[in-house]
Amino acid sequence: MGTFGHEIYDVVGIGFGPSNLSLAIALEEHQANERTRPVTAAFFERQPAFGWHRNMLLPSTTMQISFLKDLATFRNPVSRFSFISYLHTSGRLPQFVNTQDFFPTRQEFHQYLEWAESSVTDRVSYGSEVTSIRPPRGIGAGDAEHLEIEVRDVHSGATRLVRARNVTVSTGLVPRMPKGVERDERVWHSSEFLAKFRRMDPAGLNSVAVVGAGQSAAEIARFLYDSLPHARVSAILPAYGYSVADDTPFANQVFDPGAVDEYYFGSDQTREAFWRYHKNTNYSVVDDEVIRDLYRRSYEEEVRSSRRLFFLNLTRVNEVKRSGDETRVSLHSLLDDGARELDVDALVFATGYDSMEPSGLLGDLDRHCLRDEAGRHRVGRDYRLVTNPELPCGIYLQGGTEHSHGLTSSLLSNIAVRSGEIADSIVQRRTEHEFGRDVALEIERETL
Ligand code: FDA
Ligand code: NAP
Repeated sequence: MGTFGHEIYDVVGIGFGPSNLSLAIALEEHQANERTRPVTAAFFERQPAFGWHRNMLLPSTTMQISFLKDLATFRNPVSRFSFISYLHTSGRLPQFVNTQDFFPTRQEFHQYLEWAESSVTDRVSYGSEVTSIRPPRGIGAGDAEHLEIEVRDVHSGATRLVRARNVTVSTGLVPRMPKGVERDERVWHSSEFLAKFRRMDPAGLNSVAVVGAGQSAAEIARFLYDSLPHARVSAILPAYGYSVADDTPFANQVFDPGAVDEYYFGSDQTREAFWRYHKNTNYSVVDDEVIRDLYRRSYEEEVRSSRRLFFLNLTRVNEVKRSGDETRVSLHSLLDDGARELDVDALVFATGYDSMEPSGLLGDLDRHCLRDEAGRHRVGRDYRLVTNPELPCGIYLQGGTEHSHGLTSSLLSNIAVRSGEIADSIVQRRTEHEFGRDVALEIERETL
């Protein structure tokens, strides 16, 4: 196993989606504004190139946040990494403004992310999967001045070690399948949708079904209906139809940076109320426009008296039986408490995601990380895992903090501010470590 140079980085980022991209930008901008020495950083991403949920880049799908909630603007409104700066560079700023729309397509936002990535790409290793984080061999976590990060080359399988005083785990959401259902070439999760769809001959897809009533499910049902004009499309909905995502102004306040403090410093009842009243801003809900698109298609079928779009309301999947090209789905309907079977050529589970969970990467280090009464990681306001005092290195989370920081944890809404807070924490702790706490506070006062 090789080592990645002799350098000990101030921070190593695991995963390079929008969250760590935003951190790379925050560190870059921090450098431009401060007299302190540069924060050295390296990022590792297992994909071969930058990609943001590529398998869901369906035509016409739009962002679910305002373009102003980009990688930097909420932290630094004059950032050169803003979406507006990207539009200006691309020569489309006036045209974009003419659309009078806050919500660009996901394809355009993806182009923006790639554009931003191109300025920091020298810090990123692609095709590089992090497999573990641990103290240096032979040294207890308590005495470790740095951590070792094991990185596997996705192509060759070779591994190497990288050293860092801090890590930011930003590995993203984890696709969720119903218990007992295995994915294969005809049974897909929405996170792999386009890759698997493109492998099929459309002529062989005469009956397809989509499970779920969230945004992914509705977008995929619409896409399949439009792309397969000959096919029967069944939407298997646990609800009585799709429900709208509340993005009205008062409800949207739950995604404001200030809501993070109110959630974090609130009581258990505060946090429970956030979820009880506002889960419908994000989970198991669909944008109004997509709902109306689907309903219009369904109504047009009624007018034509020819049906190939079916909504199976209050229905869940019990079992999937696979044999060769055949896929049989066993369903249970709450409408009549009845069971029925459906034969399909492809079945898409748009059944959502689990939150990011760092324990697998942390391995033995996890026992130094403190947990709350419910067994969840304790996380500082600066997104650093609370550890016992003998672990001096910082392990920061971007994601997986719904229980401590609230609804924005897995979303883009707050990444500009969050990554700034993490960058500040890394710099502050480094100064404290080098000069002691009093001098660090003095330096901080001077730079304000
Ligand atoms: P993200 O999942 O984007 O990136 C994590 C990266 O880590 C991936 O590139 C992965 O390959 C890499 N990785 C994982 N394990 C690794 C390892 N061990 N080693 C190396 N690399 C590893 N939110 C929102 O606010 N507005 C929106 O419009 C949308 N739209 C949207 C569409 C779709 C289809 C989905 C599924 C989700 C959204 N979201 C969203 C929510 C989504 O979580 C958010 O947009 C970002 O993807 C969060 O960025 P992250 O960088 O945290 O995770
Ligand atoms: P989601 O909102 O969690 O929805 C999952 C759906 O699957 C729910 O309706 C759930 O029903 C259902 N389900 C789970 N298990 C089931 C089963 N066994 N049988 C039938 N139904 C089952 O997941 P998502 O739609 O993938 O959205 C995840 C995130 O990605 C959200 O933040 C969303 O906004 C985002 N997203 C954004 C875009 C975009 O920007 N355009 C596109 C797609 C997704 P229950 O309610 O009963 O659990």
